[in-house]
Amino acid sequence: MNVADSEVVSGILHSEGYVFARDLEDADVVLLNTCAIRDNAEQRVYGRLAQISAFRKKKPELVVGILGCMAERLRSRLVHEEHLADIVVGPDEYRKLPLLLEQAFEGEKGIAVRLSRVENYEDIEPFRADGISAWISVMRGCDKFCAFCVVPFTRGRERSRSLESVVREVEGLASRGFKEVTLLGQNVNSYSDGRHDFADLIQHVAEVDRSIRVRFTTSHPQDMSDKLIAAIASNDNICNYIHLPVQSGSDRILNLMGRSYTVDHYIALVTRIRAAIPNVSMSTDIISGFPTETEDEHRQTLDLIRAVQFDGAYTFKYSPREGTKAWSMVDDVPEEEKGRRVQEMTELQHAISLEINRNLTRSIETVLVEGPSRKSPLFWMGRTDTNKTVVFPHAGETSGDYVRVTIERVNAATLFGGRASSSSNMAPMKEAAA
Ligand code: 5AD
Ligand code: SF4
Repeated sequence: MNVADSEVVSGILHSEGYVFARDLEDADVVLLNTCAIRDNAEQRVYGRLAQISAFRKKKPELVVGILGCMAERLRSRLVHEEHLADIVVGPDEYRKLPLLLEQAFEGEKGIAVRLSRVENYEDIEPFRADGISAWISVMRGCDKFCAFCVVPFTRGRERSRSLESVVREVEGLASRGFKEVTLLGQNVNSYSDGRHDFADLIQHVAEVDRSIRVRFTTSHPQDMSDKLIAAIASNDNICNYIHLPVQSGSDRILNLMGRSYTVDHYIALVTRIRAAIPNVSMSTDIISGFPTETEDEHRQTLDLIRAVQFDGAYTFKYSPREGTKAWSMVDDVPEEEKGRRVQEMTELQHAISLEINRNLTRSIETVLVEGPSRKSPLFWMGRTDTNKTVVFPHAGETSGDYVRVTIERVNAATLFGGRASSSSNMAPMKEAAA
């Protein structure tokens, strides 16, 4: 989401004549786009700001701006108390950036952090380098108010772009040769432009160009409609991959979190998804050590991980966020205990991912080539429709091609392929299952 927002900001600044600097020495302005989801995200930004402040001693005219969710939370502290920034701009105020920068060049500090009920930047063309994959933000904000989560406070209420504006953006990307789009929203499947829901949106996007893969994130279980599941099942280029945060395997904790479903509901939903979409892969987010979580409730989460057999899971230690409902609860699970619980979940998930991937050995997968593998230029890196990373040797294809790859060996994170058997830029995408 922040990459997509940075592209919107770059779009706004580009149209005012700004260009990217080569490095810090070359820059007149440094903008940091920040995240406030957990304390460690904020600490990383403070670390970066300390580096930039040190550099600013040599170059006092450098303008430093803080964008995004931390801006909203920590505006006056960042500008007035700690003098870390000249301007602070929240996620709904990016149109003001050119003006605030002009003022900052004159030595004036600026803060713009008001949230909007309507801003969706649908008329701004994000500034993107040519490539294979593009993020498209289709809705902003969140109305769910989960007890642990700062997003509704930092990004404000839900609002969606019109279906037409999203489709136009995808058409533009198709004409530039992009091969994959990821529709983004904090709560993407509650998208509504008043006339269309998310199932309508994804259907229209999929029809723009059948050689473009369509992904989406992040979905809330409550908004995972049968209509959306049917749209995924019936369009070959909508990827068979759903990220569906569960957050906990305990009904008591889910209730305290305000998540609006029980473990049984969640499992029934996964069963419906798997019945409708063969070979679908699923991942999740889980928080450990939410206030009052007991050892037994942690065990219930491990049971859920075992029962669902996720392809992947992102696990986080609970981090208290000011202003949320859980902020007033006592953060009573000690840090080491949260760490141990996360570790247990990670180890369990690792074993499950490895087992699932092992079952793919000798299958043939259709892989979209994204670029050279990180370790060797002789190998490509790409992903399957099910969002698994595949590394395989070159055989004459280029980035953006769809390639059929035989999986020879695996680990929990990556599939390793043999030589590609054929390549094209229009290959059908769901015939790959062995
Ligand atoms: N502490 C820990 N994890 C959190 N998340 C959101 N808020 C918090 C918090 N306060 C996690 C959730 C969410 C993911 C993006 O971040 O699991 O799905
Ligand atoms: Fe945060 Fe997601 Fe809950 Fe919205 S649905 S409050 S973004 S965790």
